Amino acid sequence: MNAQLTLPAPAKLNRMLHIVGRREDGYHSLQTLFQFIDLNDHLTLAARDDGHIQLTQAVTGVPHDDNLIVRAARLLQRHSGTLLGATLTINKQLPMGGGLGGGSSNAATTLVGLNHLWQLHLSLEELARLGLQLGADVPVFVHGHSAWAEGIGEQLTSVTLDTPWFVIIHPGISVSTPGVFQDPQLTRDSRPITMARALQGGAPKWRNDCEAIVKERYPPIAEALDWLAQYAPSRLTGTGACLFAAFETQQAAQAIAQLAGQRWPTWVAHGLNTSPLHDALGYL
Ligand code: C5P
Repeated sequence: MNAQLTLPAPAKLNRMLHIVGRREDGYHSLQTLFQFIDLNDHLTLAARDDGHIQLTQAVTGVPHDDNLIVRAARLLQRHSGTLLGATLTINKQLPMGGGLGGGSSNAATTLVGLNHLWQLHLSLEELARLGLQLGADVPVFVHGHSAWAEGIGEQLTSVTLDTPWFVIIHPGISVSTPGVFQDPQLTRDSRPITMARALQGGAPKWRNDCEAIVKERYPPIAEALDWLAQYAPSRLTGTGACLFAAFETQQAAQAIAQLAGQRWPTWVAHGLNTSPLHDALGYL
């Protein structure tokens, strides 16, 4: 067997994020708008007939068997009962733990890609349900379209958002997602709104409920957010550490990114409504 595929695993931004409650299991109920951007990791998946799942290179700080790519492959293997295995190679571009969803996206590309390679014919809905076992952000990457998300992020409704050019800054520190969600001072009681209402206001009205606490606990993030806000409204994505601002043209974004790049790792990326993964596989 020598079937092999190389597929993108895109980053996401949370254009807005409201925390509307805390569940019994400690997870938080959210309302968020997810959008993909054209910044990708790439995953090469090669089928093998000995049943082994092997990630070819070590990712710093993550034991092989804990890597979400390996866990996703094994989960799909168990769920489907296939006797096939896979050799997986990741070409990492996205920062880890930055709120861009890199790990979750890698897991989703593994599920969607191996479903294809192993010819399992599972639906995207079924793969998203499996993905939820690996993390709250995995389903949207399986879903493959900009989405309004509720629940812990798994109840998805496709939406079409504006597609600006984003300047994305990594302030060079990492944020503990569980730490933010467990913070006693986190605002968890935003009043639930309808999707229509969220979309109606558009970007000028969007906020991220994690932002105040993250700014307070991580001064370098506050500094970068305040710096970027001089040029355009700036938002945290997820629980950070990355932050972003939207610009109408690539040129305008690049001008600001050039300035930001003198202080922080910075990217310019285009907003998308369909995932490059799904485009590559002809899903949408
Ligand atoms: O699901 P994921 O592994 O991405 O979540 C990381 C941590 O973030 C969880 O362990 C939980 O503490 C917190 N979280 C939460 N509510 C969510 C998503 C994540 O409390 N909706």
